[in-house]
Amino acid sequence: MKKYAIAIVGATGAVGQQVLKWLHELHFPFSSIETFASKRSSGRFIHYNRHSYLVQELNENSFKNKNICFFCTDESISKKYIPYALKEKCFVIDNSSFFRLYHDVPLIIPSINGHLFHPKHHLIANPNCATSILCSVLKPLSDLYSIQTVIVSTYQSMSGMGLNAMEELKYQSLAEFNGKYKRERKNHFHLSKDTFKYKIAFNCLPLVGTLLDDSWTTEEHKIINETKKILNQDFKIIPNCVRVPTFHCHGETVVVKFHQKIDLNVIIKHLKKQKELKICHKILPINSNCAQRLEVFVSRIRKVDNDTLTFYIVSDNLLKGAATNAIDIAFLAIGGCKE
Ligand SMILES: NC(=O)c1ccc[n+]([C@@H]2O[C@H](COP(=O)([O-])OP(=O)(O)OC[C@H]3O[C@@H](n4cnc5c(N)ncnc54)[C@H](OP(=O)(O)O)[C@@H]3O)[C@@H](O)[C@H]2O)c1
Repeated sequence: MKKYAIAIVGATGAVGQQVLKWLHELHFPFSSIETFASKRSSGRFIHYNRHSYLVQELNENSFKNKNICFFCTDESISKKYIPYALKEKCFVIDNSSFFRLYHDVPLIIPSINGHLFHPKHHLIANPNCATSILCSVLKPLSDLYSIQTVIVSTYQSMSGMGLNAMEELKYQSLAEFNGKYKRERKNHFHLSKDTFKYKIAFNCLPLVGTLLDDSWTTEEHKIINETKKILNQDFKIIPNCVRVPTFHCHGETVVVKFHQKIDLNVIIKHLKKQKELKICHKILPINSNCAQRLEVFVSRIRKVDNDTLTFYIVSDNLLKGAATNAIDIAFLAIGGCKE
């Protein structure tokens, strides 16, 4: 079997570390993995099982002799460096939002719209984490009935903002217990003032991403626009995104109104057939049980009235919402499948 030379850009971050781990766990056929980050981290080693990877500083030449590059960095790095990777004829999977709405860049969840992949594509965008989790359930529902409106409220964990945000929550929570939060806050704030004007430990923050002039946030716009692009359908989506003080997994309460009358038994039977969904009846899925799991957990499925359904979903934003979907895209590109 052909093996591939891989580059992980942003390998020290929350998503990059999961890409490294799951390339091994899912037995992706690689011949080598090289790990890149900023100057800050170059020279560090990242360890996975018995393997150690030296972190190199990213530059324009990092993509020479690579076949597949996973970008696990923010938009500015994708914008600047992906053209260099493409020039070297690498196949690129971008986790940032920079290219997601470009009409010539497919935005892919392989189980939903993998058919859009064509070997001529050298760049594929990986969707927003809350969007991926939502689409995994909306797609099978839309196979049964036509969707009129979706109202989704998210409960997004700190890992969705990266490693520094998780550290910040850890620090704030400990400081709160030690009664030192106010005194130490200035010295230890890792994140910019704009990002965290508000204390997140033991609080919920109705702001994910940046608040825009139209009163919606960037995250809410991503959910609206990316869901429509992935499902190739146009219905009304009303998202309300909330950051909650958890470390792992995003939860979402969803209300879906259809154009037709619905049958709850038919819906549950159909959802149970989906490989990527785990339908929970007796035991409710909670974040700590869903972290490092590949499925989207669906619970509390019930009818609101004849044409309206509601349910709760939760999944690991770093996996289904990022790393393992990115690896699924790579499997799709090489025409292989997971072991
Ligand atoms: N977290 C999620 O759930 C999630 C889900 C879907 C998509 N995403 C997207 O995935 C991307 C990464 O998110 P994350 O949560 O993993 O962030 P993160 O934990 O903050 O990691 C950022 C990574 O970028 C690297 N980096 C920063 N500046 C760099 C530079 N100048 N050159 C090369 N590397 C640089 C960092 O390396 P250093 O160690 O050198 O700082 C680190 O490895 C973002 O675009 C995010 O929106 C995240």
